[in-house]
Amino acid sequence: VTLFQAPKGASDVLPPRSGVFERVVRAGEDLFRRYGYRRVETPVFEDTGVFERSLQEGSEIVTKQMYTFTDRGSRSLTLKPDATAPVVRAVIEHGLDRAGLPVKLYYTSPIFRQERPQAGRRRQFTQIGVEALGSPGPEIDAEVIELAAAVLKAVGLEAALALNSIGHPGCRSEYLPVLVEFLNGRREELSKDSQFRIDRNPLRVFDSKEDADRKVMAGAPLIGDYLCGSCADHFDGVKELLTSAGIEFVVQQTLVRGLDYYTRTAFEFTSKGLGSQDAVGGGGRYDGLSEALGGDPLPGIGFALGVDRIALAVENLGPADEAALDVYVVTAADSQRRAALEAARRLREAGVSADIDFMSRGLKAQLKAADRAGARWSVVLGEREAAEGKVTLRDMASGEQSEIELGQVAARVKQ
Ligand code: HAM
Repeated sequence: VTLFQAPKGASDVLPPRSGVFERVVRAGEDLFRRYGYRRVETPVFEDTGVFERSLQEGSEIVTKQMYTFTDRGSRSLTLKPDATAPVVRAVIEHGLDRAGLPVKLYYTSPIFRQERPQAGRRRQFTQIGVEALGSPGPEIDAEVIELAAAVLKAVGLEAALALNSIGHPGCRSEYLPVLVEFLNGRREELSKDSQFRIDRNPLRVFDSKEDADRKVMAGAPLIGDYLCGSCADHFDGVKELLTSAGIEFVVQQTLVRGLDYYTRTAFEFTSKGLGSQDAVGGGGRYDGLSEALGGDPLPGIGFALGVDRIALAVENLGPADEAALDVYVVTAADSQRRAALEAARRLREAGVSADIDFMSRGLKAQLKAADRAGARWSVVLGEREAAEGKVTLRDMASGEQSEIELGQVAARVKQ
C-alpha cells in the first residue's frame, strides 16, 4: 500500500486508456465545431445557489450528491455536478443571447457527484457536451440529437437512442397528481427509496432499478398521455426530423431523466456491455432554466456524453490499434547520439511523432523500448549509414527494414 491513493471514486486515467479517452474528446470537439458550436469554459466551482435553483431541492443530486464547501470568505461553493446550469449562468451573466440567437456552446469538463462508486460510476468524471440556447423549435432538438449520435458513431460505438417528451410544466401539473395518486395507492409495494420519492420527485420512481418498483411502474400512468397540443406537436416534429435524418430511436415513455430542469424533449444513449451503468450520454430541453437562474426567458437544449464510460465501452470493442508513436530513434553507436537528437527534432518538425532513448541503453534495449513505446517504426543511426548520409528505417511489426535518407523518413511514415 502506498502512502497516498486517489480519493475514493476519483480515478486516474492512465495510458493506454488515456489515449482512448483523448480520442473520444477530440472526436467530440471536432464534430462540435463542425456543427457550429464554440467552446465555453466555466469554473470548476460555482455559487451553490446555481445548482440549488436549477436542479431543485427535490433532486437527488442536490440532496445527496453535491460536493459543497464553505471557502475562507464564508461563501457556499459547490464543485459542478452538471455543466448545463453553469453554462446558462454564464450566458445570462455575459448577455451572450444579445449577440444573436441561437447561442451554440460546447465544453469538455470535469463533473463531481458523490455517488456510490462502481464500474462506470465515478465521483469525478469527464463530460463533453453542447448547449444550444434561443430556439424553441424541434429542428434544433433534432440537430442536437444528431450531433450526439455522430460523436458516438465517430468513436465506433453502437448506442441505442431512447426518446421521450416530458411536456412543459402545464402538462406535468395535469399529470403529476395522477401519478402521485397511483403511487400512493401502491405505496406498500414500492422500495423505501421510491416511497421517499413520491412526495419529492415522483417522476424519478421510473428510474428505479428495483424489481418491485419496476413491476409497479409497468402499470403506471404515462406522461405521454397528458401532453398538451403544442408539446405533442413539438414531439411529433422532433420524431419526424430524426426519421428523415436516418437516425434510429425508440420512444421510451418511461424515460424521465434524473435532472429536474427538463421540459419536453428528453433522450438518452445506452451501450450494451457496460453493465448497469450503461448510459453513455443524455440530454434534453430545458426551457425554464434561464428564468430559474434569474435570466430572461431563453429556451435551450443540450446533451452531455460521459467520456469515461465511452472509453470503457470502446475498449471493450477491442484493443486500441493506433500506434502511440510514429518513430523511435535508435543509436547503434554512441558517436551518433547528437545526430539522433537532431533526427528526432527534424521528424517532429515535419509533423511526425518521435521519441528517443534517454536512459543510455544499448541497441537491443533501445529496440525493446521502441516496442514498449508502441512505435510503428524505428530509425536506426549507425556509423556506416551516417557516412553515406542514410539511416535504417525498420517496420516494428514486420521487422522489414530499408536504408533511406533521413529527409525522406517523414514522407514514408506519413504514407
Ligand atoms: P446526465 O445524464 O446526468 O446529464 O449525464 C450525462 C452522462 O454523463 C451520462 O449519460 C453518463 O455517461 C455520464 N455520467 C453521469 N454520471 C456519471 C458518473 N457518476 N460517472 C461516470 N459517468 C457519469 C447531464 O449531466 C446533463 N447536464 C446533460 C445535458 C446537457 N442536458 C442538457 N444539456
